[in-house]
Formats: sequence, structure tokens, C-alpha cells
Amino acid sequence: MSSSCDSGDCGDDRYSPGLENIIASETALSYLDVEKEEIVLRGYSLIELARQTGYVDVAHLLIEGSLPTSERRLAVELKLKAEEEVPGGVYESIRLLPQGAHAMDMLRTAISALGCFDEELEDFSPASGRRKAYRLLAKLPQITANGYRILNGLEPVAPRSDLAYSAGFLYLLTNKKPTELEAHVFDQSLVAYSEHEMPNSTFAARVIASTMSDMYGAVTGAAASLKGRLHGGANEAVMKMLEETSSSQSLEALMLEKLAKKERIMGFGHRVYMRKPDPRALLMKEALRKLAAASCNHELYHRCEAGEAVMKREKGLYPNLDYYAAPVYHLLGIPVPLFTPVFLAARATGLCAHVIEQHEHNRLFRPRVLYRGPKDLHP
Ligand code: SDX
Repeated sequence: MSSSCDSGDCGDDRYSPGLENIIASETALSYLDVEKEEIVLRGYSLIELARQTGYVDVAHLLIEGSLPTSERRLAVELKLKAEEEVPGGVYESIRLLPQGAHAMDMLRTAISALGCFDEELEDFSPASGRRKAYRLLAKLPQITANGYRILNGLEPVAPRSDLAYSAGFLYLLTNKKPTELEAHVFDQSLVAYSEHEMPNSTFAARVIASTMSDMYGAVTGAAASLKGRLHGGANEAVMKMLEETSSSQSLEALMLEKLAKKERIMGFGHRVYMRKPDPRALLMKEALRKLAAASCNHELYHRCEAGEAVMKREKGLYPNLDYYAAPVYHLLGIPVPLFTPVFLAARATGLCAHVIEQHEHNRLFRPRVLYRGPKDLHP
């Protein structure tokens, strides 16, 4: 096989639609071991990390390369608090948006604007990348929650200094101090969303970073990708589907109606897991069971289980993380338009770690095409 494809007639075996099963990068950050049904984050099981550590620990692991000691973890929490203030110009940029604009469009705009306020924007060293990653993580809870408040004509609320990172994020989203269970479940969901190998949005970030463009631009591109309903937008779509129903029977009927029309049921299927379970969905299903029991809302849990059974029976498909994260966020009191923005805020730690890695060992992404157009024409 020739090394180039100048003629445009290179064989089809160099082409995989949607880059399915194509390896695009080398990374030490994460890997989906489908056979073992395990998500590996720098050698650890993501599920074990979600059960035995917390989001700040996982952020440190992804950004720095190791789990923090308890002292180091406290230092990171304090650093995130110290860096949480959002530049006024970022909120001003959100105020210029039309009220009712999509929350992901607001977040994408705000992240892009935030980059203009970072003095280290054009510093591509790993140390600067790590500082920028923490700065972004520190500011995203307020940008997400207060940006949405501004979109709806409300004033920003101040963060609570007495709450840890995840609990403080959930407080900003709901304006209510979370219970211990709510804070723990939300923290687990942030870990579940934190990093997942090479989804479309992470690939978008690495492609942008590979031109030696900056971290904020790369995360902005990832935000645009994540909004799509085939990707991060699925969690909002799942909740909208659940809200259209009030029982297991009505959910089953709605799903069968959609399937009969060859429509996709959001929250099911996955390019990599194919017809195997998403380990993260099982974690969030367990979280939903706990929240449902605590709020005596067993019906919602059983309705979601019924929906899962429908897709297994009709299509042989399993739920992905979004299917169970959506009802969990609903029971936590998070507004539906903020479901995907929370996904992005959680994934920001993985995205920043990928950008740092790309800048450290860079090779510009520039693939080729299988040309299908006309040839040898003359004007
Ligand atoms: C996320 O990549 C990541 O890791 C992403 C993510 C992350 O952490 O970053 O995991 C987060 O994005 C999870 C996915 C969220 N999206 C959805 O829930 C949207 C619904 N899912 C589908 O659109 C679909 O499953 C995709 C997009 C996720 C994957 O699609 P593929 O790999 O392109 O699969 P396909 O379209 O080739 O479908 C294969 C078959 C088809 O049937 P046939 O036409 O061959 O008979 O499976 C069917 C599809 O019709 N199918 C579905 C379906 N998903 C696949 N049928 C109904 N409902 C679905 N959801």
C-alpha cells in the first residue's frame, strides 16, 4: 500500500466510516477494556475510583498522574476554592446572549471568553497546562450554574465556602444544601463522567490542540461536540422521554412507538460497548435506587428498569451512562437544561489532561479522504 493517497484511489481498508475501531492517539490516561467490562483510568478502575475516592482525587490523578495523599487532596480543594472567582467579563458575555439560549451554547461561549482572561493562555508547558486545568475546574461550577441563572434573568448566587467541591457545585445548581447522600451520589456521577478514552468530544479537543491551539479553545470545541444528542445531549433527551410518561407501561408504549418509527432511543447503545453493558450505567442505576429509596420515589426507578428491559428485548441494547444519570440528576433537583453542562463540567478534567498530553507529545492531526467526486474536469 503506497504511503500517500495522491490518486484518491487508495483502497477502502484505509477508511472506516466515523473512524469506527480506528486508534487515533496513544495515551496514558484511560482505556475501555470491553472484554473485561472495565474502564481504566491511569491503571485504576473508574468504578473503584467512584466507590472509594472522589472527583477531586480523580481530577488530581488525571491532571498530575497519581492519586493525591490526604494532605495533597486538601491542598487541591483549597486551590480550587482560591481560583473559583469568575471574571466579570465572562458573565457580561453571557448577558449579551438572548434569554432562553441553550445552556450548552452559553457554556461554550463562556469557556471561550474565559480563555481571554487567562494570562497563561499561550503557555503550552505541562506545568502551565496543569495550572489552567485547575483554574477551569474551579470556575466551571459557577459558570455553569450562574450562567444558566443569567440566561433566565436571575442574578448569580455566591458559592458556599463551607461546602466541598462536589457538594458546593450541587448547591449552586439547586440553590439547596445537599444531604450527605445527594452530595455523595453527585460526586460519583462527576467521577463517572470525568474521562472515557476517546469519545467524539475528546477527539475534537485533541484535534484542536494538535495545531498548538490553546486549552480553552480545545475545551470550547469539545463543548460544541458534546451538545449533540448522539453524545452528551442524550442525558437531557432521556429525561424528556421520561417526563412524557408516568408509568412503566406508558414508557414501554412510547419506546415501542419510537422503535416502530425507526427512531433512536436516547440513553441506549454505545459505539465501543456495542451490545455489552456500560459499567458506568450500572453505577448510576445503583445510585438511582438509593436516591429513589430516600425520596420514596420507587416508581421512577422501576420505570427506568422497565425501559431497560424493553431495549434489551427489542434491540439487544444496554443503557449507557446517560440513561441512569438523567433520573439521578432529576431526583437531585438539577434543572434538565443543565444535565449536559454538568457532563461537560465533569469531563473538563479529562479533556484538560488530554490537551496537556497532546501538547507534550504532539503530531498534527491531518487525515486523508476517499475521494468520491468527479475528476479531470476543465473550466
Ligand atoms: C455518550 O464515546 C463515548 O464514550 C461517549 C460517552 C462518553 O462518556 O463520552 O460514552 C457518552 O455519548 C454515550 C452515548 C449517548 N448517546 C445516546 O444515547 C444516543 C442514542 N445512541 C445511539 O445514537 C447510538 O447507540 C450511538 C450513537 C451511541 C452509537 O451509534 P453507532 O455506534 O453509530 O451505532 P449504529 O448507529 O451503527 O447502530 C447499530 C445498530 C443500528 O441498528 P440497525 O440499523 O443495524 O438495525 O444499533 C441500532 C441502530 O439502529 N441502535 C439503536 C440505538 N443505538 C444503536 N437503535 C435504537 N436506539 C438506539 N439508541
